[in-house]
Amino acid sequence: MTDETGASNVRRPTPATISEAAEHLRGGRLVAFPTETVYGLGANACDSRAVARIYEAKGRPRFNPLIVHVADVDAARALCVFSPFALKLAGIFWPGPLTLVLRQRPDSPISPLVSAGLDTIAVRMPDHPVARQLLEASGLPVAAPSANRSGHVSATRAEHVASDLGSLVAMILDGGPTVHGLESTIVDASADEPELLRPGAITADTIFAATGRLIARGAGNAEAPSASGQLESHYAPRAKVRLNATEVRPGEALLAFGGRTPPTAGPQINLSAHGDLIEAGANLFQALRALDASGASMIAVMPIPDEGLGEAINDRLRRAASPRS
Ligand code: TXA
Ligand code: MG
Repeated sequence: MTDETGASNVRRPTPATISEAAEHLRGGRLVAFPTETVYGLGANACDSRAVARIYEAKGRPRFNPLIVHVADVDAARALCVFSPFALKLAGIFWPGPLTLVLRQRPDSPISPLVSAGLDTIAVRMPDHPVARQLLEASGLPVAAPSANRSGHVSATRAEHVASDLGSLVAMILDGGPTVHGLESTIVDASADEPELLRPGAITADTIFAATGRLIARGAGNAEAPSASGQLESHYAPRAKVRLNATEVRPGEALLAFGGRTPPTAGPQINLSAHGDLIEAGANLFQALRALDASGASMIAVMPIPDEGLGEAINDRLRRAASPRS
């Protein structure tokens, strides 16, 4: 968080700090920045040494590939092959929380460490002014996983990044809490039949409504690309997580949802007292971190409806609850 002189590396985004951050990226150093979903831990995607620093800082298994962030569709087309349907998706949903997995062009300059040996890459154009200014100022495709230690809850505030990664990054641009609070939807559009690899802020229903095309749920999922065998457990707080709780047991913290919550004298946070799934998604990771910090050994989670954004929220909660390695 602070260097040997006591100065913090957390900065308010201004034209000056953004150009300093872009200089760090060009110099092969790591910069954490806000996106509309969660904070990203960015590096120059064409520089293998810089990308290796991401894996090292996160303590991330090498085989879990990274998302490349680009300033616009043309920058993405220089890296990968767009089918007409992929172009349509980008036209409708970019900038925004949709990641496309596409076949890499043979002349793609992206480091092979980014795709972890796959012949596809994941790309997205984020919709956050700070992320976009940073991408433009750097002139680079930026590889950025969520800015948390591997397996931890994703970072939705600059403080989360500072506490997980602190001095491992050259700079943390503080854009306040992120809007969606859940990672992007990932659609594999590299083959004829597009597949949903990770549910997120843009639901399969929304894609169907906008394009008339049904997106099948992938057999695997983005946290376990077929090439990797990555563990189910992910987004995990230190405390254990018990799902679909209708009562609170002694010693448990409560992660509530909606107006009718079971009685408890222990720590509790309501994701949305009105039962609003968008508000719940935005609050999820901050709430898990805060309940974890309360010291409870178990977090009891009330049922969340599995519709709309609830699908993405329940996906993250199932991973938080699944057995740890
Ligand atoms: O909202 C987000 O997507 C955030 C912000 C920072 O943009 N990023 C993010 O990155 O969530 P990360 O690294 O935590 O998750 C990336 C996911 C991983 O689950 C990875 O397996 C999948 O994308 N992925 C990346 N490249 C892939 C590929 N070529 N094929 C299949 N899945 C891939
Ligand atoms: Mg992540």
